[in-house]
Amino acid sequence: AKAQGAAGTRFDFTEVEAGVDATHHVAEGYDADVLIRWGDAIFPDSPAFDPNAQTAESQARQFGYNNDYVGFVPLEDGSSEHGLLVVNHEYTNEHLMFPGIVTIADGEPQIAPADRNRVDTEMAAHGMTVVEIRKDAGKWQVVLDGANNRRITVETEMAMTGPAAGHDRLKTSADATGSKVLGTINNCAGGTTPWGTVVSGEENFHGYFIGAVAADHAEAGNHDRYGVPGESYEWGNFHDRFDVSKEPNEPNRFGWMVEVDPMDPNSVPKKRTALGRMKHEGAESIVNSDGRVVFYMGDDERFEYVYKFVTAGTFNETDRAANMDLLDEGTLYVARFEEDGTVAWLPMVHGEGPLTAENGFESQADVLIETRRAADLLEATKMDRPEDIEPNGTNGRVYVMLTNNTKREEADAANPRVDNKFGHIVEIAEEGGDFAATTGTWEILVKCGDPSVAEVGATFSTETTKNGWFGMPDNCAVDADGRLWVSTDGNSPKATGRTDGLWAVDTDGEARGTSKLFFRVPVGAEMCGPLFLPDMQTAFLAVQHPGDGGDDWEGFGRPSYYEDPSTRWPDFDDALPVRPSVVAITKQGGGRIA
Ligand code: FEO
Ligand code: CA
Ligand code: CA
Ligand code: CA
Repeated sequence: AKAQGAAGTRFDFTEVEAGVDATHHVAEGYDADVLIRWGDAIFPDSPAFDPNAQTAESQARQFGYNNDYVGFVPLEDGSSEHGLLVVNHEYTNEHLMFPGIVTIADGEPQIAPADRNRVDTEMAAHGMTVVEIRKDAGKWQVVLDGANNRRITVETEMAMTGPAAGHDRLKTSADATGSKVLGTINNCAGGTTPWGTVVSGEENFHGYFIGAVAADHAEAGNHDRYGVPGESYEWGNFHDRFDVSKEPNEPNRFGWMVEVDPMDPNSVPKKRTALGRMKHEGAESIVNSDGRVVFYMGDDERFEYVYKFVTAGTFNETDRAANMDLLDEGTLYVARFEEDGTVAWLPMVHGEGPLTAENGFESQADVLIETRRAADLLEATKMDRPEDIEPNGTNGRVYVMLTNNTKREEADAANPRVDNKFGHIVEIAEEGGDFAATTGTWEILVKCGDPSVAEVGATFSTETTKNGWFGMPDNCAVDADGRLWVSTDGNSPKATGRTDGLWAVDTDGEARGTSKLFFRVPVGAEMCGPLFLPDMQTAFLAVQHPGDGGDDWEGFGRPSYYEDPSTRWPDFDDALPVRPSVVAITKQGGGRIA
């Protein structure tokens, strides 16, 4: 069943059939080529990937695990054929990475306790990759001797900058200055700035901490608000800084937006504290008509908030260096979505409203370190897991992906479904087309889920086929033509009878709310990345955690782990584990993605 001819649609491709299997599928007439996989070389001397002999040293010279955000910075002016790919490595799936650590007891996988080598390898598999890529004869290649190639890991030195830098609450026994921190973790969505740097969001940082502070410790309430310690990893057993009982301030050094200059492989990445501390997602931006730059950001947890940051300074198109610290000064706002369809952007400024010493905020640093508590006091709107948010310079609106929230018991206008299993997309129009405005209007573009099941209450257009609907919108991309693409996190055989994927969603005219499936991932994977290059001839997609779970796919009712994964994508070689990878989509014979 093709979705051709939906009235007014801006997408011409032939829709993929939704479903579940071991591999990926792209619309007919397009190629989806694996560009780079976990463990692949990114330097001429990178060790060959050997899953049976993984070390931190080898991993730090190879492409990391669980590719998420994908950015592209051209190496020649405006090029869509030669540039730097900048990729987040959000987290690690030990049970799929390391041989011999899973045993099955009563049908449930048990993971053996970590040793030092495993922990250090996990740490090296986190962070980011910068790697030069080039399109040769229509096919993308990694340039191993690219001068800017770089791995950023949990050990890479970074600077804290902006209003919270140097604050006592950021000081640790390793760093008496409160301004020098090692590494970045759980880098999920991000953004590429108009000046060609990449901002990368530290999302679920709480999971890396063990131990606790006493209930009457000054940081106890703060840590609690962020879920610290999350105890998802065993790093704190080998590295004291991840044990809160030993380093109570270390968690305050994570949860920031990290800016990386991919053009300088020796540059020190900067944690830009002015953008607040949360489980950061998305930081796509737009140059406002007055030259200030506006960044939209989500905090991905149930009942958390939507934010934007407006720089104080203006973008300088002719002098790149003049923009390099724009993110240290400006105003952070949090959104209150009113019932009447307006949105108020509430400034998070020390001394204004409830953000005073009386409420425990001695300075702007406190407001930023405890961004969530500040937003609580401002009575911002608690959203259904805000992840990626992107401004659309073509139609002047802003798209907010709200993944889901099965814990919601009380609906409000902007989060209209209790037990919101499938999520929705909110569209904001800023007052007068001014992205820096403090007010605007909003409406719901689509409530997600299966439109053929009445109680789901999905609102895709009637032109949307059985393949075209999706649940759990997570990341998005606005392409050079101003069209919206949405990728998902949480579709599965059980949840929706389909894998995650990339859907094209019409936002304007008669076809508004019509969705079509362009690409789908292998079983167990989440669809991350999506990035369309300016010439519209390439899309990069990040296939994250393939094989993680298999539900009841073709009778795959057993745990998925290294020795017995639900898929061995992309190599399909019994000697190799399933591997997260970045895929390049191009049109066969060349041309625009239509
Ligand atoms: Fe890393 Fe918000 O998903
Ligand atoms: Ca998510
Ligand atoms: Ca995600
Ligand atoms: Ca995005």
